[in-house]
Amino acid sequence: MATGYQRFEGKVVVVTGAAGDIGRETIQRFAREGAHVVAVDFNADRASTLTNELQSQGFLCSAVGADVTQEADVKRYVEHACTEFGGVDVLFNNAGMEGESSDIGDCDLDDFDRVMAVNVRGVILGMKYVVPVMQARGGGAIVNTASVAGMSGAPGLTSYCASKHAVIGLTRSVAMQQGVNNIRVNAVCPSPMTGRMMSSIEQKMQPDDAAAVHDALIATIPLGRYATPADVASMVTHLCSEEAAFLNGGLYPVDGGVSA
Ligand SMILES: NC(=O)c1ccc[n+]([C@@H]2O[C@H](COP(=O)([O-])OP(=O)(O)OC[C@H]3O[C@@H](n4cnc5c(N)ncnc54)[C@H](O)[C@@H]3O)[C@@H](O)[C@H]2O)c1
Repeated sequence: MATGYQRFEGKVVVVTGAAGDIGRETIQRFAREGAHVVAVDFNADRASTLTNELQSQGFLCSAVGADVTQEADVKRYVEHACTEFGGVDVLFNNAGMEGESSDIGDCDLDDFDRVMAVNVRGVILGMKYVVPVMQARGGGAIVNTASVAGMSGAPGLTSYCASKHAVIGLTRSVAMQQGVNNIRVNAVCPSPMTGRMMSSIEQKMQPDDAAAVHDALIATIPLGRYATPADVASMVTHLCSEEAAFLNGGLYPVDGGVSA
């Protein structure tokens, strides 16, 4: 079912982290603008609930349960997009996790490895398997989800911050490498956003007074509020659309002025 603005008519869009706050909002935008969406998430049930809802409204989409850290799973979601819809035009490489909050002396290396696996290995694997498919199609657009924590330090979240800096390095490198193939690669960098992840971070940083962390973070944001999933989805869909045809290798803050 088509509604209004149709920037993705007939395009095949793959979104990872599909069952989360940003994933759900973004998938709805892509679907409403005419895309055929493959919703990828570790949590297959929540991804299917979303795609069932969208299918019942007449949108073309399907869900794949996959762990983005596992090469076989990544191959499988890309093959699914090719079999079901004929290829991939857009990848929103968005699955991520926050990990634990600790001083460096207490850093849990298993947690560090897990954060790097999801946030960095997952992003590399997505691009590794999608780029050849895009090359065969004559081009495409990739958006990787970094963070304002990929652009400056985040003292309470060292592993997460390191992983998001790595996402930016990957984005810039693959953008320079694949521009010649008409594949654009950009990063979206949200500030703290209302939703599950920030509630968890606030709780981990100050278990006895999570609200104080929330207030302190809001005080650093010139526009005086957290981002919303809709704020992020607006940037992501813009970057993946033809309106952004000359944007490649860039970092796009959605942060109310934090990084200004
Ligand atoms: N929420 C924020 O404040 C914020 C700010 C900046 C950047 N980000 C980034 O945005 C992205 C999405 O975050 P969100 O706020 O929607 O978080 P979320 O926790 O609501 O969603 C994350 C989704 O990723 C999925 N996921 C986690 N590990 C996975 C794996 N190994 N394989 C497949 N799926 C996996 C989860 O099941 C979940 O559905 C993340 O990369 C996050 O780091 C979030």
